[in-house]
Amino acid sequence: MLLRTLMFWSESILASHSPTPPHTAPPPPHSDSLPARHGYDSYSELVLPFKSNTALLDSYTNASGGIRVGKLMEHLDSLAGSIAYKHLLGPTVSALGPVHERGFYLVTASVDRLDMLAPLYPVRDIRLSGQVIHTGRSSIEVAVRMEALGADHAEGEKTIMLGRFSMVCRDATTHTARAVNPLLISTPEEDALEVMGARLKQHRQDRSRRALNRVPPTSTEAADLHAFYLAHGQPGPHEDGERVWMADTKLETTMLMFPQERNVHQKIFGGYLMRLAHELGYAGAALFARAPVRFLALDGISFTRPVPIGSVLRLSGRVLHTHGKLVHVAVRAYTADIATGAEEVTNDFRFTFARPLDPLNANSRREVVPKTYTEAMLWLEGRRALEMGMEIRGLRGGGRE
Ligand SMILES: *[C@@H]1O[C@H](CO)[C@@H](O)[C@H](O)[C@H]1NC(C)=O
Repeated sequence: MLLRTLMFWSESILASHSPTPPHTAPPPPHSDSLPARHGYDSYSELVLPFKSNTALLDSYTNASGGIRVGKLMEHLDSLAGSIAYKHLLGPTVSALGPVHERGFYLVTASVDRLDMLAPLYPVRDIRLSGQVIHTGRSSIEVAVRMEALGADHAEGEKTIMLGRFSMVCRDATTHTARAVNPLLISTPEEDALEVMGARLKQHRQDRSRRALNRVPPTSTEAADLHAFYLAHGQPGPHEDGERVWMADTKLETTMLMFPQERNVHQKIFGGYLMRLAHELGYAGAALFARAPVRFLALDGISFTRPVPIGSVLRLSGRVLHTHGKLVHVAVRAYTADIATGAEEVTNDFRFTFARPLDPLNANSRREVVPKTYTEAMLWLEGRRALEMGMEIRGLRGGGRE
């Protein structure tokens, strides 16, 4: 609906905001009174015509001659937002209308993964698309896909990136969870997607139950960590590669949060934060690898708190784990309140990049090594994420490292 232009959904909402909000919002519905929707009702797409529009391509090109991945993330985030709103408002609604009339709003709770399955060919048109694949009582899971459109007749569409966003519906007045329309499953494909959506939600819960800030590592993990410590963690020369302490990979940036990047709730737009975090993560991985790296996955993002306009944003990144080509990076976002100086964590981002491997170049043997117990747990978390990523990209039949 909103996706014919490159306008973000947040901007569309702002554009349709009326200056005099009435005091009566509709009463919050019960989920059984909300009409069920088909998955295809929320289908939305956006085409970036890189092939025919060189000016557009130019504005997306990065220094390696590829596409700026962070800018695609911004689009995917706004697309996921549009899709979730379309699910709630229905396929025929073409504008979001003012939030106080709607009585609800959506926030992104997490991004589960975005996996690169094939290289990005900048000479092809790119289609971003997606639809709702699963709903909970107040949550909506949206699957997004990025495809390269056929360059010639011999080659058809090619899936480049797949990912999932998880959104939560809130009441506009009370800001508490609000019921969403149930999802109707009508085709075998939708059934498969809904099963996948439910399973992924389960995986997410299992993962958080096994998180190392709650429970100890498994005995295999503990043994592997100890073996790694014996090989790399002790003083002395290290023949088999260059050791880099985790703390020495730290990279930070501090920025002011301007009102231009606001969303409908007068907070900073999530896609913008994704791009900033991705760029810092890229810089950290490239400086670690001492070479340009290739984006492979966004392993996860948590949206813990919104980032207020006018706050000071600090992004802090470091390399958590390395495995052959793979460099896994964490970026944590903090906001500082100017009046009090108090800092709060707002988001955690995890990214995986691939570095060039050259047996003759010692840089490609650089390995990140934890020094403290906290760092060792992060090192293990990084390893879990890399294993998951290899499994998923392998399962989906592409993107072998
Ligand atoms: C540049 O483009 C390549 C290919 O699309 C990608 O792998 C790499 O991560 C990009 N770098 C940035 C900083 O976007």
